[in-house]
Amino acid sequence: MDNKIKPREQWGSKIGFTLAAVGSAVGLGNIWRFPTRVGDNGGAAYLFVYLIIIALIGVTVMLAELTIGRKTQLNPVGAFRALSKKWTFVGAMGVLAGFVILSFYSVVGGWTIGYIVRSLTGQFSGDTTELFLGLITNPGEPLLWHAVFMALTIGIVFFGIKGGIEKASKILMPALFIMLILVIIRSLTLEGAGAGLSFYLKPDFSEITLSTVVAAIGQAFFSLSLGMGAMITYGSYLNKEENLIKSAAIIPALDTFIAFIAGLAILPAVFAMGVAPNEGAGLAFMTLPGVFAQMPLGGFFGFLFFVLLFFAALTSAISLLEVVVSFVVDQLKWTRAKATTIMGAIIFVLGAFCSLSYADAKIADVFIWAGEPLFDLMDKLGEYLLVIGALLTSIFVGWAWKTENALQEITNGGKFKFGLAKVWSVLIKYVVPVILVIVFFTYFGFLEI
Ligand code: PHE
Repeated sequence: MDNKIKPREQWGSKIGFTLAAVGSAVGLGNIWRFPTRVGDNGGAAYLFVYLIIIALIGVTVMLAELTIGRKTQLNPVGAFRALSKKWTFVGAMGVLAGFVILSFYSVVGGWTIGYIVRSLTGQFSGDTTELFLGLITNPGEPLLWHAVFMALTIGIVFFGIKGGIEKASKILMPALFIMLILVIIRSLTLEGAGAGLSFYLKPDFSEITLSTVVAAIGQAFFSLSLGMGAMITYGSYLNKEENLIKSAAIIPALDTFIAFIAGLAILPAVFAMGVAPNEGAGLAFMTLPGVFAQMPLGGFFGFLFFVLLFFAALTSAISLLEVVVSFVVDQLKWTRAKATTIMGAIIFVLGAFCSLSYADAKIADVFIWAGEPLFDLMDKLGEYLLVIGALLTSIFVGWAWKTENALQEITNGGKFKFGLAKVWSVLIKYVVPVILVIVFFTYFGFLEI
């Protein structure tokens, strides 16, 4: 492998790595998908379960993936192969997950572009439900934005990992955070917001069921970019001086904080505007414009918000495509140019079918299977693949590679203190696999939920 001859490119700075990893984690998963899942799963009880899952499972698997990456300095497929040939398929599954997720992810990324345009043409003041439906049910327009979004993703991955986008996120991420705070202030002061706030923050623990837990786990992996090797890839660019334990705590903490405040920005507005909390994929898109419409300088802030959301989506999309491309480059020896364009094109086509499955046109029927739009099916399949990927990763680290070896890498031969080493070992060996096996059974109907 050429990595052995030529030292692998490494991050320019500590902060560069953290930013890029957080850039991968923070995206549509936090601002679009998380509030949707909270709404679908009954509110505060789900939030409560979600936070526990992040701390218990998210952080544990995050550390495992970063460790595999830094140890092997390879893409996910190469990494598993280098540690144990038999486990190569886990990396390959991650590549498949990248394919599936990016296909519909790019469609939503395209919606953010559609919304940037709508903010500029002053369309945020009308009926926001109509606004969203007007966009997605149109067969042509979302396809165009999906193409633009995918082309940008391809372009950035084409030119390597250390592009300007990574530097730009130093400004863009804090800006997104500030925008969310502004939205929260307006959202919370809307009439009727109180009901949304208690929906989000006042848990009724009797509502927690196995299905709440299953939904929270899938979302946790999606939001943290886990279970498909994205974090293995990021870890592979880290040098041995980096403290993995810190990274494995900081990335989930920031990601979860952004998801939490996105919920705070969106759910009160959902109730204030009389949108059903279980509206589904349109939840954020149906409510945010309404919040901006009732804000001083709302047109400008709305524009800014969707621009920032677009960039957050882009930094995540890059990491999804990067997993696919680095695999093809390292294992099949394609050139980066060839890998990026061909893989990107295939993902674009799959995404186009997802987009059309929401369209109000005859052709949509072709992409609705057993009553479910292809978009939703891909979303589900992506989540399944992440959970299965994380399950196999935890079994691999706990039982095949062995926690002692992983800990050796984590502590850099004892250089870094890891007070929770025992706890982590028990989690990755027993707790995480057992819980994920249960989730796996529910997916295939072996367990009723
Ligand atoms: N974590 C990203 C988000 O929340 C999506 C993603 C999933 C990125 C898996 C990479 C891998 O938007």
